[in-house]
This record gives sequence, C-alpha cells and structure tokens, in this order.
Amino acid sequence: MTSPLRRPLIAGNWKMHRTVDGSVELARALADTARVGPRTDVVVAPVFTALHAVAKALTGTAIGLAGQHCHWEDQGAFTGEIAPPMLKDVGCAWCLVGHSERRQLFQETDAMVHRKTVALRRHGLRPIVCVGETLAERESGVTFEVLRRQWEGALGGLTGDDARAFVGDVVLAYEPVWAIGTGRTAKASDAQSAHAYLRDRIRNDLGEVADGVRILYGGSVKADNAAELLAQPDVDGLLVGGASLDAAGFARIIQAAG
Ligand code: 13P
Repeated sequence: MTSPLRRPLIAGNWKMHRTVDGSVELARALADTARVGPRTDVVVAPVFTALHAVAKALTGTAIGLAGQHCHWEDQGAFTGEIAPPMLKDVGCAWCLVGHSERRQLFQETDAMVHRKTVALRRHGLRPIVCVGETLAERESGVTFEVLRRQWEGALGGLTGDDARAFVGDVVLAYEPVWAIGTGRTAKASDAQSAHAYLRDRIRNDLGEVADGVRILYGGSVKADNAAELLAQPDVDGLLVGGASLDAAGFARIIQAAG
C-alpha cells in the first residue's frame, strides 16, 4: 500500500519562457482546462518576473506556485538572486532546487543545493530537489553512484532525526539529463529502477520515512507517456518542462494522475 503522504504531484517548470502577460494567459488557460483531482497536487513554476501576477491569477484555484531557484540567505548583497522569504511573499509554497540546468550552466553544487533546501524549509517552503545523471554517466554505468552522491549532497551530512525531518519535507525529482528537452524519455522501467534505488537508499539510511517521500520523474514527459510513467510503483508524480507550456497538453498530464 502506497503511503497517503505520496499523493501525486504534477509540476510544470516553465523555465525561461513567457512574459508576464503570457504567463498569466497560460495560468488562466490551465486553471480553466485542468481538472485537478482531490488527491493530486499541481504546481507551476513561472519566471520570477511573472510570479506575482500568476499568483493572483491562480488565487482560488487548486494550482500552486513554485520558484525555479533561490538563494540560501534571507537578504543581502547578492545581485540577481532571490531569497526564500521573497518567494513566499509572492505566493510560492514550493521551489525547485538543483535543477540540472542550474548545476550544469550555473555551477550549482551539491553543497549549494543543501543550503538552499535548508533555507526553504526554514521558511516553510517545500523544496523539490532535482537529481539525475548525464548521458556519459549513464553509459559508463555510474547512474546510481551519481544519484547517491547528489542525494547525500542535498542531505549535507544530516543524520538521525534531523535527516528524517529533512526528508519528510522534501520532494525528490529524478531527471536524467539526457532526457531533458531531447524528446528522449527514460523507459518507464528505467525511471522505476532509479526511483526505487533512491527510495531504497533513503530506507537503508533513515528507515520508513522513505515510504512517504514523493519522487517525481522529469524528462520529456508528455500527455502520451504520463500514464505509463505514473503507473510505476515508485513514480509519485512528474516534473514537466516543455509540455507544461501548453495548457491543454499539461491538463491531460494532470488528468493522468487522477
Ligand atoms: P522537458 O520536459 O522539456 O524535457 O524538461 C524537463 C525538465 O527539465 C523539468 O524540470
């Protein structure tokens, strides 16, 4: 029996797309089209400049708001950054951390992922911590090692009850880098084995808290493959990039979660 804590979560990462007006239009179209089941969480992550307007557009709907990234300090001289309390201030309840694009293009390290995750928790925001291997890593057979290193990096040396409390607050997202924006989705069985590996790792280290952790799959998710991915026993939701920019398509993905 799957833990009730693992209610499906469908998240749309809009990345660096859409103006304020375009984001509001997309949010409204999604709110009009999507039928969000009573046991499903739905979240969208627009660009920072659109967060405030999208928060207003989504007020009273079942769709929540996420930041795509944040700093770990609450404020200060960090030009170009945004702090967790600022995300909260504009209506976010969630934030992505450690997306592979942040890791690869902006040199985000495991240590930074840990600090950001801690900062988000401190402010009552739900971190969605992304992990995943590159194609070269997969081909050289080190996928699980990479997942382990990234997960332990996010945990940042916490142990015992501190680690269990941390794990209880985060959502994990397995996003194989080679599947992002490539149209090359992981086979459902490959996604399942990576998710099961992560859950087993957490169970070995921290016990049954692992059974309540939501692990999302991301990487070329579309309306056509969502149901098969969601049917895997350790896939608790989806983190959708390109396909979340189309309200009708994203609504179909949400529907696949029930
Ligand atoms: P795509 O769905 O466009 O492959 O992007 C996945 C992703 O990076 C979501 O965070």
